[in-house]
Formats: sequence, structure tokens, C-alpha cells
Amino acid sequence: MDNEILKALRTRRSVRAFKAEQISDDELRAVLDAGTYAPTGMNRQDPWIVAVQDPTIISQLVRMNSMFTEQEGNPYYDAPTIVLVFCSRPDIWPNGFADGTLVLGNMMNAAHAIGLGSCWINRERQMFDTDEGRQLMSQLRLPEGLMGVGALALGYPAKPLPPARPRKENYYRIVK
Ligand SMILES: Cc1cc2nc3c(=O)[nH]c(=O)nc-3n(C[C@H](O)[C@H](O)[C@H](O)COP(=O)(O)O)c2cc1C
Repeated sequence: MDNEILKALRTRRSVRAFKAEQISDDELRAVLDAGTYAPTGMNRQDPWIVAVQDPTIISQLVRMNSMFTEQEGNPYYDAPTIVLVFCSRPDIWPNGFADGTLVLGNMMNAAHAIGLGSCWINRERQMFDTDEGRQLMSQLRLPEGLMGVGALALGYPAKPLPPARPRKENYYRIVK
């Protein structure tokens, strides 16, 4: 069985090299909108999505993220847009983190479906659990009680996408 959606799900790859050119507002909104249609526990639509294109804030995110990784270079791969996803802390809403990961997944697949490249970038949980992180959340006009889930580096891919690595054996089983 096959169709365009299934093909897009199979061919999306993490993109780690981006053109400097900024994506259009229409493209950005298409990706963000897809994120908002991710399923959420009890339809609370708990996650908060912040797309950052401001170079000063992007530099700050690069610096903050680099503090939690040994990785060389820009952990967001010089993407012109960084999309941050936050959720309520587990004491406030236990499904928040799971909700946020689905938002990120929807946005990655939507980005691929319209020809953009994206890569999930980790460490937002640690970054936003610092004084600087809390200050930045307040600067981004987010409410209290949130935590970082993850981020997307987003932009036009600078290189063709590689094929997917083979899937592991016995990834799924069907029990009837
Ligand atoms: C929870 C999670 C965290 C990830 N963190 C990073 C990251 O910090 N940096 C990065 O380059 N890729 C990151 N990735 C991307 C994975 O490395 C990538 O999805 C995986 O290698 C499979 O490749 P594909 O997305 O091209 O299929 C992350 C992916 C997930 C789901």
C-alpha cells in the first residue's frame, strides 16, 4: 500500500546542512500549523511553539545549547529558523512531554512534505531549566510552569537527502 503521505513519512531525513536563505512566512506557517494538529492528551493542546528567526536570539540559543554538548560547531547547523517546543511541567500535566514530541514529529514531516529540511535538536530541556533559560522563556512571553521539549532546525536543505538507513530486524510484530 502506498500514497504521497506514506512516501513522505519514509523519505523524510534529518537535515544538517541548510542554505542561508530564510524560508517564506507561508512555509513557516504551514509547518507550525501542522504542529498544532498533532494529537494531544485530552485535547488539551498543551505544547507551546515558538519559531525564532531573530539572529540575536538564535545566537543565544546556539550558545546555550553548546553548554550541554561536546558537539563541535553550531548545534542547530546554521539553520535560519529554530522552532522551540515547550510543554507544561509533569507536575502540572503529565502528558505534556509526549504531546510536545508529537508536535515536533508533525512539524518535521510537514516540513519535508513542502520541500523544507529539518532536524530535531536536543537539550532544550536542560537549556530552559537554567536561570538564563527561564529569563528567555519570559522574554518570549511564555507563561510560568513550562519546560523545554526539543527544537527543530528548519530551512532549505543545502544537499540532497540521503536514503534512510535500513530498519532494524523485527522492528514490529503482528500478533493475531
Ligand atoms: C529525540 C531526538 C533527539 C535528537 N537529537 C538530535 C540532536 O541533538 N542533533 C542532531 O543532529 N540530531 C538529533 N536527532 C536526529 C536523529 O539523529 C535522527 O532522527 C536519526 O539519526 C535518524 O535519522 P533520520 O531522521 O534521517 O531518519 C534527534 C532525534 C530525536 C528523535
